[in-house]
Amino acid sequence: MTDRRSALVTGVTGQDGAYLVELLLGKGYAVHGIARDVAAFDYSRLGNTRYDAGEFRLYNCDITDEAGLRKLVAAIRPDEIYNLAAQSHVPTSLADPRRTMEINATAAVSLLRMIVDLEFQEHTRLFQASSSEVFGDASGAVLTESSPMRPCNPYAESRYQAYVASTRLRAETGLFVVNGFLFNHESPYRSAAFVTRKISLAVASRARGGRAPLRLGNLDVRRDWGHARDYVAGMWLSLQRDQPDDYIFATGENHSVREFVEFAFATAGRRIRWQGAGLHEAGHDAETAERLVEIDPAFFRPHEISATLGDASKALQELEWRPRTTFEELVREMVISDLDRTR
Ligand code: GDD
Repeated sequence: MTDRRSALVTGVTGQDGAYLVELLLGKGYAVHGIARDVAAFDYSRLGNTRYDAGEFRLYNCDITDEAGLRKLVAAIRPDEIYNLAAQSHVPTSLADPRRTMEINATAAVSLLRMIVDLEFQEHTRLFQASSSEVFGDASGAVLTESSPMRPCNPYAESRYQAYVASTRLRAETGLFVVNGFLFNHESPYRSAAFVTRKISLAVASRARGGRAPLRLGNLDVRRDWGHARDYVAGMWLSLQRDQPDDYIFATGENHSVREFVEFAFATAGRRIRWQGAGLHEAGHDAETAERLVEIDPAFFRPHEISATLGDASKALQELEWRPRTTFEELVREMVISDLDRTR
């Protein structure tokens, strides 16, 4: 037996899973990662972090497989659980609201219940990944933990339900569960379904001679974009407190998709000149006049959140958490990583 602390990370193959595993292994945890297909875990993401069978284990388990998950939780009896498994793509939630609800709400709530049923609540702490999406379109207001929640798509609804259930269970049973309202957080490991990675990949593809213009939806929405590496540090800090609470993790600064595009292309040495308006707007290379960006109505959303902006002062005061990566550093890192990969 070892007195090493143990953590169970669901959704371990995702972007946040990679950074969190690296952080936990660095702190000497025994890390147990689960996902639907752990063969997809990319070990190269762990960089130089030390791992071996004793410290890091992977298990195939779908978060919605309640019996399988219960067996694992009972056997591992983790000190900390980070519930990162999610269907996290807003447009997919519009196409498949039922599955989104099953993964993000039903399975999340059964995981919480499981800890109580197993009588682990004195021992096991849980971080529940929630989202700025629960606040809906707050018309650019600066959001805090007490801002009104008005989810406006099935993804946001599912996150909201998990949040409501977890705070109720926390009050009823004393379960140590923290909800982290994570604002958009990105990295070179982001899936291409999200706009930032779609842009960085397009810049790289163009640099190696690709000719297809990048097709985007609304260029003027603004997002509070941070780096995933910073956000997983907040997850860990939030479980080290004496009392559980809920926290916003955000940078307090937002930028438009248009700014992201301009900065990303600038990183590869191209300046964009915008021409036209609405659906006919397009971005051209200011020197060569090549068409780099165009608008595609398929990527517009029925109920768009025009801007998000978070106030993470509570996390700063109580957890001493602050985002370390600037917007410019984030965009540069993503673009350079994709340029390197495609070289
Ligand atoms: N995906 C995508 N593709 N988004 C586009 C595009 C496009 O071609 N063009 C414009 N956008 C706009 C979207 O309409 C949205 O306003 C914004 O870019 C960001 O979209 P996403 O990158 O898909 O992220 P998201 O804001 O919907 O959701 C992400 O952040 C949430 C808050 O942290 C996801 O990670 C959620 O799971 C997360 O909860």
